[in-house]
Amino acid sequence: MSDAIKIPRHVSIVMDGNGRWAKMRGKKRLEGHKAGEKSVRSCTEECVRQGVRYLSLFAFSEENWARPKDEVEGLMTLLAGSIKKETKLFTDNKVRLRVLGNRSRLDPSLNADIAEVEELTKDFERMDLIVFLSYSGKWDILQAAKRFARDAAADPSLIERADLSLFGNYLVTAEIPDPDLIIRTSGEQRISNYLLWQAAYSEFYFTDVLWPDFDGKELLKAFEEYSSRDRRYGKVK
Ligand code: IPE
Ligand code: IPE
Ligand code: MG
Repeated sequence: MSDAIKIPRHVSIVMDGNGRWAKMRGKKRLEGHKAGEKSVRSCTEECVRQGVRYLSLFAFSEENWARPKDEVEGLMTLLAGSIKKETKLFTDNKVRLRVLGNRSRLDPSLNADIAEVEELTKDFERMDLIVFLSYSGKWDILQAAKRFARDAAADPSLIERADLSLFGNYLVTAEIPDPDLIIRTSGEQRISNYLLWQAAYSEFYFTDVLWPDFDGKELLKAFEEYSSRDRRYGKVK
């Protein structure tokens, strides 16, 4: 790896392809989701090693609730289990866990487990691991608009004062910088209602590798590609 490699401050991953990974092996879709857990671990450790400050993962979209009941239930059980199981990974690596999304749709016991780990890790500052759960970009913008409208009804001066930064603080990602790099595995090249507002100037990296086969090494390839990108933000250099 060359010295010139640029490490994104915030890297985000759309973890896709678990179902296809399982199908190729004649396994059930849930086996693919299970196999993806080690990719999460590997990428988390690599990001900590490389000095990434924020790693975010798209784990379950608002649209994913429409999948067959047994897959949704299996995924939720898996998520609950891994959030508890990985507590050691978080404490060993000084990683703060945050779970963002429409938390009201999650089972109360899952919410309680998440809250426990969030509380336990809240002072860790080496890296934030953000898991987007029951999240969609349009939902996020709408919930922000609703909360903004409520505040503006109480204080109309907010309407004139609102700028991108003020409104951005109503999104669930308030205080978290926008992703520098968004990776999507499995060959799909779409945003699937992920971070619509926050991805305004993100670099995208698409790979055919399926999520269960993605690891720290694959992540470094993405960083290498990212290092060669010229981020202009609409300006002329
Ligand atoms: C990504 O893998 C995990 C979730 C969306 C929860 P998929 O389950 O979408 O896998 P494919 O796209 O069917 O292969
Ligand atoms: C996007 O993957 C959501 C997550 C990875 C959590 P999907 O598999 O749900 O996306 P589509 O349906 O292919 O767009
Ligand atoms: Mg998919």
